[in-house]
Amino acid sequence: MNICNREGGRCAAMALVCLTDFEQYAKEHLSKATWDYYAAGADECCTRDDNLLAYKRIRLRPRVLRDVSVSDTRTTVQGAEIGFPVGVAPTAFHCLAWHEGEVATARATEALNTCYISSTYSTCSVEEIVAAAPGGYRWFQLYVYRDRELSEQMVRRVEALGYRALVLTVDVPFTGKRRDDIRNRFRLPPHLKLKNFEGLPQAAAEDYGIPSNTLDPSISWKDIHWLQSITQLPIIIKGILTKEDAELAVEHGVQGIIVSNHGGRQLDGGPATIDALTEIVDAVQGRMEVYLDGGIRTGSDVLKALALGAKCVFIGRPAVWGLAYKGEDGLREVLQILHDEFRLSMALSGCRNVAEINRNLIQCSKL
Ligand code: FNR
Ligand code: LAC
Repeated sequence: MNICNREGGRCAAMALVCLTDFEQYAKEHLSKATWDYYAAGADECCTRDDNLLAYKRIRLRPRVLRDVSVSDTRTTVQGAEIGFPVGVAPTAFHCLAWHEGEVATARATEALNTCYISSTYSTCSVEEIVAAAPGGYRWFQLYVYRDRELSEQMVRRVEALGYRALVLTVDVPFTGKRRDDIRNRFRLPPHLKLKNFEGLPQAAAEDYGIPSNTLDPSISWKDIHWLQSITQLPIIIKGILTKEDAELAVEHGVQGIIVSNHGGRQLDGGPATIDALTEIVDAVQGRMEVYLDGGIRTGSDVLKALALGAKCVFIGRPAVWGLAYKGEDGLREVLQILHDEFRLSMALSGCRNVAEINRNLIQCSKL
């Protein structure tokens, strides 16, 4: 007999077994405006959708008879060991998905021993995030404001709190055109605050995250020097999509880049990140770590990204779906599923540890 409560068309007792189950749950349970904000891509969403489709065009070349009774998923980022090569990308406004917001995210990522990049636009402050998960491994996502003083204050604050790297997002000189957000007149509800800006000049926090008013669209490579001059932390540039910019990042002495198109929320028509990865890895030639985000939904996506040279990948929307399901526990489940699927994909393709994952795993038509 199969008796269970139906809730929003879904059997409440049914286990969520893959990330798209969490997506469905979030879609059914979040308000329309919140769902639309999280799901949004720019314009016609071609790049957002291609981020996922591109993985489905890649085929693997599994090896067999290699004693995969034990697969070790551990790796390092910036010299720190993490449990598996999937971290949480910076996304704004976690309190929209779950009342505890980024505090829950911090606890879940600490529990799974992975990297959490907390967004400038968090609805819990960086102090609250650190207090919630003192042992967590964290990077801070930074924007450069017209008011450099404000950016410098943020840097000092997160340095003092023990954040381990700065992730400078460079693909938002202006916010992309997200049609549903415009139709919905989406704003952060008044009971939620951009907690990192409390007590600071309001200009920085006024809009929900229509950051174009306050972010400086004139930033250029010289500002990387400025950032280097005010911090000792490693600098990772998020939003690189070409070998030319990857080469410049190396020349400017940063410690890493995240190949990212902001989940397809900025320039529509840009490449899927997994399609941009190979030329970038080839240009960088191991001179800094290359990470990737965008469209990671299964363990074999993670395997493909690592095979093509990413040191670690990050999830954006799936983390929010996990929060929407059950806060800390929901995100733990999402991360655990990705961990288990990744370990299984490794074993089924003959890899015993992440060092054994390389381009030989990818069918050459994709190289
Ligand atoms: C983002 N992203 C983002 N990036 C950033 O640097 N700072 C931010 O505050 C945000 N905020 C944000 C909100 C939401 C709702 C989304 C979906 C995305 C981009 C994010 O870090 C990442 O690049 C993408 O989300 C990765 O794609 P997937 O995993 O969502 O497909
Ligand atoms: C976004 C901003 C906050 O993508 O980065 O919504």
